[in-house]
Amino acid sequence: MSDFITITVDGIEAQVQKGMTVVDAAKQYMGVDIPVFCHHPKLEPVGMCRMCLIEVGMPERDRATGAILQNEDGTAKINYGRGLQTGCTVRVADGMVIRTTTKPVDVAREAVIEFLLTSHPLDCPICDKGGECPLQNLTMKHGEGTTRFDYNDKIHNKKHVPLGDLIWLDRERCIQCGRCTRYQAEIAGDPVIGFHNRGRKLEIVTNSDPRL
Ligand code: FES
Repeated sequence: MSDFITITVDGIEAQVQKGMTVVDAAKQYMGVDIPVFCHHPKLEPVGMCRMCLIEVGMPERDRATGAILQNEDGTAKINYGRGLQTGCTVRVADGMVIRTTTKPVDVAREAVIEFLLTSHPLDCPICDKGGECPLQNLTMKHGEGTTRFDYNDKIHNKKHVPLGDLIWLDRERCIQCGRCTRYQAEIAGDPVIGFHNRGRKLEIVTNSDPRL
């Protein structure tokens, strides 16, 4: 059996390797860049940031015969389900049709950026990652430019939290993508950092000795 299946992303059809995530397949085979924060191709997907929300459809089938139903113009009927899905956790399936440029996708991206910035400092002019920051880049590309959030409600977290002798965490700049915790657990095999608390109190901590 072939290791390749057919999917369509934004109208581009291609054969892609089975088992890939939609984000990786779209980028590798169609050159379609679905924005991500928490995703990394070498780490297990966790779907934490929601930046990669997309519309995922599958061909509708006749329940009795299994045949793909068709529209009047002869094209396959696609069922996109009721909501958006995270492209970094959904694996490709034969016949899958993905839309990444629709209004609901744009609205979701704007909302994710808006939400992330509610607890992010305005450090860009003094940040050593300014100009090469994915949050800055995706904000420019997908952010709405305005916010419903009251600046006075901004959360201010600690900026110099030691996780080890050499590594300090700026909690205000952390967007809690979990890449660092997954790197430590999956690549380094040394899970000395992890998440603590829930919701707006979520933070990266270490309780290990020696530390990071
Ligand atoms: S990149 Fe998919 S949820 Fe973060």
